[in-house]
Amino acid sequence: MLLDIRDLKVRYATGQGTVKAVDGVSLSIAENEVLGIAGESGCGKTTLIKALMRLLPGTATTTAERLHFKGRELQTLSDRDFRKQILWNEISLVPQSAMNSLDPVYRVGDQVVEAIRAHIDTPRREARDRVAHLFDAVGLQTGLMDSYPHEFSGGMRQRAMIAMALALEPSLIVMDEPTTGLDVLVQERIIRKLLEIRSEIESSILLITHDISVIAEMSDRIGIMYAGRLMELAAAEDLFDTPWHPYTLGLKNAFPSIRAIDRELISIPGSPPNLLGDLPGCTFNGRCPFAVPACAAERPVDTDVGPGHRVSCHRLDDIESMRARASEKTTWQSSKSAA
Ligand SMILES: Nc1ncnc2c1ncn2[C@@H]1O[C@H](COP(=O)(O)OP(=O)(O)OP(=O)(O)O)[C@@H](O)[C@H]1O
Ligand SMILES: [Mg+2]
Repeated sequence: MLLDIRDLKVRYATGQGTVKAVDGVSLSIAENEVLGIAGESGCGKTTLIKALMRLLPGTATTTAERLHFKGRELQTLSDRDFRKQILWNEISLVPQSAMNSLDPVYRVGDQVVEAIRAHIDTPRREARDRVAHLFDAVGLQTGLMDSYPHEFSGGMRQRAMIAMALALEPSLIVMDEPTTGLDVLVQERIIRKLLEIRSEIESSILLITHDISVIAEMSDRIGIMYAGRLMELAAAEDLFDTPWHPYTLGLKNAFPSIRAIDRELISIPGSPPNLLGDLPGCTFNGRCPFAVPACAAERPVDTDVGPGHRVSCHRLDDIESMRARASEKTTWQSSKSAA
């Protein structure tokens, strides 16, 4: 395993109380694998990767039973060693709103050159050659290295950030909403480029987005996150062919095929719970048409339902009838929060 996260929790202290933004997430990523995490806005996706990358604000508290990278516990590493040994060299990030992450006063190519030279002792000339190669890899003309960010479109800036993330050939590239905010054609082009890059590099990718079509196109395995927790985790085919969690069943209605394009996770009536305070049961129970009293009272345990297929639900014994009912529209209209 390249990355192995066990029982990760992140809490934000706020004036209203404690927000349990990530509440016991366990996942792992193998070498050369793309793991996609999909979930609605606010479910804790960015918080999860900020915890991994040590980018959380001071109001956040992170705990984990395990946070292993290449077999090494990251939690005992000092911030200094983390920045020196892990950040960018081993794990790089294409941040959410990466489009705005370039410094407006420097040429784009120079920014990538400097990012490389900040980590490895290499002559400017060689770094420039490397950046030219990276620009080429992400589909930017090398002549654009001498342009300024304002001369770039949103899609071009996103490509530049992807080039930056690739620059030091890290073992893991984390991408937070890499195509969100771009128009559909540009999104498609970036995804195609990412797929191309993917087949050429050894790096693993942790891809986070609310857009399940992007996840479907890119991922080997998929995790479905909801209100701070992972509801289901499985190989991409298994997740789409035989989903187990009611939330995934609901999503599947909106995405009948793995090739479904350009849709968002908005098919289930109601909205996620407030993450302030205690949520003793399953966080999905308020929207779940199959909820029984136990679902509000007790947190379900993660259960293996097949090889590499993990689900957190109290009602797994009733999967056949849930699957049958989930395909009927009325099932979802009559769910509690839709009333
Ligand atoms: N600095 C913060 N202080 C307090 N609460 C926060 C902070 N940052 C995020 N949150 C809350 O934590 C929860 C998770 O937010 P997060 O940004 O991780 O979600 P997300 O899944 O990345 O959403 P999006 O799809 O909109 O990017 C939300 O309820 C959010 O309001
Ligand atoms: Mg986010």
